[in-house]
Amino acid sequence: ICELGATDALAGERIVITAGGTHEPIDPVRYIGNRSSGKMGVALAREARAMGAHVTLVLGPATEPAPAGVDVVPVETAAQMLEATQAAFSRATMLICAAAVADYRPAKPANRKLKKGIDDLESIQLEQTDDILARLSHDRGDRIVIGFAAETGNPIDYAQQKLVRKGCDAIVANDVSRSDSGFGSDTNKAWWITAHATEELPLLSKSELARTLLIRAHDLRS
Ligand code: CTP
Ligand code: CA
Repeated sequence: ICELGATDALAGERIVITAGGTHEPIDPVRYIGNRSSGKMGVALAREARAMGAHVTLVLGPATEPAPAGVDVVPVETAAQMLEATQAAFSRATMLICAAAVADYRPAKPANRKLKKGIDDLESIQLEQTDDILARLSHDRGDRIVIGFAAETGNPIDYAQQKLVRKGCDAIVANDVSRSDSGFGSDTNKAWWITAHATEELPLLSKSELARTLLIRAHDLRS
């Protein structure tokens, strides 16, 4: 598909991408986290740069290293990710939320290491984190905002609901129950979902999927 090779296809776009997971502190040595590799978000950043965009990668804890040529803002927590993403998006034309953000964080993280026998470690009180995608979709104006939905059953149904709930322009649904898709995998089976249409994409490498999604996102404006 020759259109996918163009090095100037995204010239003029300033794209902010969230990627990786988040770590929410319990105390100075422990956290609640997840298994995000960061591969999809990092692939999006690398391909967007190769297609001529200016890229800011807001990167939480991940095993995948950041690509060269993009501005990287390293973050740990969902709150830091929101702040960094908000700041970068104020100067951008597009936002793609590929991070696996923790949905809950400890409500009162301890400022010293908790000790068994002294502290109550049987339960941790949690509170919800801010939804970065929903917050920034709300104030996007004419800028493009894309989200992801990693699901283990009915990816299309859940993703269509998330599109409405979060108010973004499109959701990329993927089926993480398959061994060839989702966390840690090098390929992804995905659907591109907008208010008007649901498009099933073939099984693609994360780089190919990244290019396909970037073209779709850019074309939403025309
Ligand atoms: N997201 C976000 N901030 C959060 C939670 C999610 O920006 N606090 C973004 C993710 O980056 C992704 C999209 O929202 O683009 C969907 O994330 P997902 O975890 O699938 O949706 P949730 O609304 O958290 O619902 P649930 O985890 O219960 O399925
Ligand atoms: Ca979630």
